[in-house]
Amino acid sequence: MTEKNNPWWQSATIYQIYIRSFQDSNGDGIGDLAGILHRLDYLHALGVDALWITPFYPSPMADFGYDVSDYCDVDPRFGSLADFDRLRDGLHQRGMKLLIDLVPNHTSNQHPWFQEAISSKQSPKRDWYIWHDPAPDGGVPNNWWSLSGGPAWQFDPASQQYYMHSFLAEQPDLNWRNPAVRVALYQVMRFWLDRGVDGFRVDVIGALMKDPDFQDDPINEDYKDSDPDFLRLKAVNSSNRPEVMEVIAEMRAVLSNYAGDRVLIGELYQPVEKLIFYYGTRLEGVHLPFNFNLMWLEWKAWGVMKLIELYERHLPEGAWPSWVLSNHDQPRVATRLGPAQARLAMMLMLTLRGTPTLYQGDELGLENAMIPADEIQDPFAKAGKGQGRDGERTPMPWDGSAYSGFSTHIPWLRLGDDAALKHVEAQKEDAHSMLALTRALLKLRKQEQALSLGAWSPLYADDHILSYERVLGCKRFAILLNFTGETVLAEPPPYPAIMILSSYLDHTEKAFDISDHVILRPNEGCLFQAL
Ligand code: GLC
Repeated sequence: MTEKNNPWWQSATIYQIYIRSFQDSNGDGIGDLAGILHRLDYLHALGVDALWITPFYPSPMADFGYDVSDYCDVDPRFGSLADFDRLRDGLHQRGMKLLIDLVPNHTSNQHPWFQEAISSKQSPKRDWYIWHDPAPDGGVPNNWWSLSGGPAWQFDPASQQYYMHSFLAEQPDLNWRNPAVRVALYQVMRFWLDRGVDGFRVDVIGALMKDPDFQDDPINEDYKDSDPDFLRLKAVNSSNRPEVMEVIAEMRAVLSNYAGDRVLIGELYQPVEKLIFYYGTRLEGVHLPFNFNLMWLEWKAWGVMKLIELYERHLPEGAWPSWVLSNHDQPRVATRLGPAQARLAMMLMLTLRGTPTLYQGDELGLENAMIPADEIQDPFAKAGKGQGRDGERTPMPWDGSAYSGFSTHIPWLRLGDDAALKHVEAQKEDAHSMLALTRALLKLRKQEQALSLGAWSPLYADDHILSYERVLGCKRFAILLNFTGETVLAEPPPYPAIMILSSYLDHTEKAFDISDHVILRPNEGCLFQAL
């Protein structure tokens, strides 16, 4: 395989920008599009190829932009369409791609469509949303549970019906069984494709279709007390219906009318065995389903090996893997695994076969912040219990100035405690920093096609070490990762090789013979090139 035959997104690294927290340009304490433009040289030098930007559309911000009230504009807090165009041009001039968030499962309750739908049972838009009469006892129509907590139904006293919401009551679900809804959303896709976006990350894509008979979701026998309450049920009727593939194929068809390999990425919280369903049997599904499984796994070398092998084995012919370590909804990788293993995890993700998606700030090794109760912003945290998602959404720390260079104003959410130490300027000066490691890995991945497009095969895994290789043509790389905090003696690569990168970033270019043992220091990852 040569790069010429592969769509750009297979060899690309995607960088996720949580727009509220990346860079403020107008001093209101909220990140914006012009702020991203201002930081493009940083992102280009980091070595990422595409940005996925979380929603910037007009929104009442009940869920910080995931409640859209106009799909075809920019919220003034985030800038304007002209800012969007400038950002698109800035990216394309640098040879980078722009991916945006499509939120088709629900709108804001302030969206004109919903306003019209709720105005009367006879409204032509009524059936654009999911309405149901109360149960005979007057209660909710069934047991469907919202992912932000509480029943997935909101009563509308005026019409004496309930409407469905998979998330907050301010986010009513659209009725994707209604063809008019599909036409409207495909039109939204065309609006942005015409404007030059290179693809979409589709929010909760697996939830678009619901059971037309509104059957209850069954009880999840595997529920643990530490799980969020929505996991008490198996969402097989309220979500994850196989018919959703029909819609996904239609979305693919919209994209295929545009040149340039526009990409469709699905947000899918699924184990590997179920994830592969969304590629489609004839690859008519999403190009990339986000694979979040590294986030849930017990962090053991052999466990990670099992996951990679399972994924590689189940992938339909021609399908392409995807890997993710963190995002704006889940605790950061450095918090889950600790700072030392976060370096190893970065080496793992950037040397696996598949498209990696890197969450802003993970290249700095940022950890989740503890947000004092009276400063909590996340509506899911307010509706439920605990810290919610604020901890992973703190502003990006750029330098040692006030508010770490994120803004000139008090940020909408406090900076993390580690901002003062881990900001970009400090890490740029430090040859051993997490930023330096991420850059080195991305540089190698770009230089060596074997590391992006090459075949993946296992070498071995045990209680301490995970080892695999990447091969393309006559180029061969072996990766050895120490998952423990101990020094370990590892099997060397099965061929004479030279070590070209250690995650410690201290020594390189050391030659190894197959008779040598490799000593891996605590939490060390090493990359070897076959001689
Ligand atoms: C997705 C988003 C999350 C949002 C939810 C509802 O899971 O990533 O942030 O709250 O969808 O739109």
